[in-house]
Amino acid sequence: MGVLSEENIIAIRQKADIVDIVSDYIKLTPKGKNYFAVCPFHDDHNPSMVVSKEKQIFNCFTCHTGGNVFTFVMKYENVSFLEAVKIVANKLGMSVNIHTDNKPSRYKKEYDVMDLSNKYFSNIINTAYGKDAKEYLHKRGITDAIIKDFKIGLATDSKDDLYKFLTKHKYENDILVNVGLVNKSGIDMYDVFTNRIMIPICNADGQIVGYTGRIYHGEDQAKYVNTKDTKIYIKGEILFNYHNAKNYVREEGKLIVVEGNMDAIKMYASGYKNVVALMGTALTKFQVDLLKKVRLPIVLMLDNDDAGLMATTKVGKSLKDNNIDVEVVRLDGAKDPDEFIEKYGKLKFDKVIKFPVKYIDFMLNELKKEHDVTSTEGMVSYIKGVIELLNKEDDLTKEVIASKVAKENNIDIDVILSKLSPNKKEDVKNKLPVQKVKSKNNFNNELCNRVLYYLMLDQKYINIFADEVGFFTEKYARDIFNEIKFIYKNSKEPSLADIIAYFGTSLDLSDIVLTIINNNDETKVSYEDFNELLKALKKYNTNQEIKEIKKKIKEENNIEKKLDLIEKLAKIKKGCVDDDRD
Ligand code: CTP
Ligand code: MN
Repeated sequence: MGVLSEENIIAIRQKADIVDIVSDYIKLTPKGKNYFAVCPFHDDHNPSMVVSKEKQIFNCFTCHTGGNVFTFVMKYENVSFLEAVKIVANKLGMSVNIHTDNKPSRYKKEYDVMDLSNKYFSNIINTAYGKDAKEYLHKRGITDAIIKDFKIGLATDSKDDLYKFLTKHKYENDILVNVGLVNKSGIDMYDVFTNRIMIPICNADGQIVGYTGRIYHGEDQAKYVNTKDTKIYIKGEILFNYHNAKNYVREEGKLIVVEGNMDAIKMYASGYKNVVALMGTALTKFQVDLLKKVRLPIVLMLDNDDAGLMATTKVGKSLKDNNIDVEVVRLDGAKDPDEFIEKYGKLKFDKVIKFPVKYIDFMLNELKKEHDVTSTEGMVSYIKGVIELLNKEDDLTKEVIASKVAKENNIDIDVILSKLSPNKKEDVKNKLPVQKVKSKNNFNNELCNRVLYYLMLDQKYINIFADEVGFFTEKYARDIFNEIKFIYKNSKEPSLADIIAYFGTSLDLSDIVLTIINNNDETKVSYEDFNELLKALKKYNTNQEIKEIKKKIKEENNIEKKLDLIEKLAKIKKGCVDDDRD
């Protein structure tokens, strides 16, 4: 079928039966018109997921994960929307191509120049000039196959080889500087990376966005030079090898996190493909969300030094605070996983990694080391630490550990138990990846969302809305409404499953559209309800307008304009009162 257009995506959606596709992943039990399943997206023990053959959507009534066939594959396989479309198409025996043409094109030029630079570096490492660099890598256990898999290349010692090459390919100075490949000094242009082994850094979609360059002979310079932050490379949003590792986590049942990119590469070479590197130790909220998306335990295997130990505590805590299962492996006798494998071999490494400890056990051990429990002060501080840790655990773990700690230290278990905060009721929502909602946009506007739900259901609601209200004051709602109108214009009676597919590639809106659909119920819609909602929305819009104008009046310095605004305000307020009366 070739390139994926919007129409093609809808055609694939309509050809795929959600019941067939979902049953490739989980067991479905028919019951009445629907199918039921144990929900794979939360810790479900009863079948709480419904799959509707008629509507071609699924929904879990416990954790509220739901959507169409693509949503299911996206969430289950942890892939992007377009990848999910491709997987579904392949299951139907259709072959589709989701290459370059479908890349979000905003940064197409930047991506292209990164790809081209990588071709250049990769070529050099395979020439005679690259002999030493290859030898260095081979010595470190990185074979030609691994060099190819990671697209590792080489920058020469000339000051502007890459610059000249890219200029020949008609790239202008600005873009080369902007993607962080070239520096400018006066009128001189020179390469950022020289004389280094070039390891590409990819974003979560696998697009090369930056490099880390390692020296391979001589010791007199920085070990690594990294791309500085650019439009396409934001360090805080990257985990090295994430794009690749996410394809292996499900079969391995976990994701391993290491510190250095070389550790990740070496582990990959030893058969551990479910591994990402932090490249520096602080973890941003964005990276936590990436890790959370995996929905599997995270195994921390950071360096065997004080920094690595501290990072384990800190990173582990941020993950636990986000309800992620954390396990810890501490290495003994080597600085990092790379060195461990080099020194003791893969078999010994296999053994070590097989027995991670739970984060809580690791932390209890650390706490104990830090405190002198023979003094009252030390004991109090220790127990406080224990309580803080336990508050992140489930009831059973709390009791088991409280009892253990009490016995070990000869204190009454109630001392600990009485200080614990009661567990919130198993909050399944908290256990799920948080929908990425930018706080700037108030996507949680219940009223707008309910109106939008009606607008998705039927053209007749769109018509009534257009007559009665006509617009949303919230930008996100406006964007969604415009899209819905477009969809209705371009397809006949789109189903909710179609609408989800249309929004599929829109990064900002698809999540909120799913939330709206999953939190509403088609059997509960009525004209009366809709009219009530519209009335409320009108009032809401007026209030928003009033707020907006008041703000403008405050800021306006020109007296004429100020008076105009005040007049306008009075008119709107009057309209509002009139509305209230009828
Ligand atoms: N790092 C860096 N600049 C440095 C040193 C380190 O950017 N001068 C980053 C790199 O991303 C590196 C990570 O910090 O992967 C961990 O540093 P370190 O443990 O020193 O490096 P290793 O991963 O062990 O690298 P190698 O094995 O190649 O020495
Ligand atoms: Mn190392």
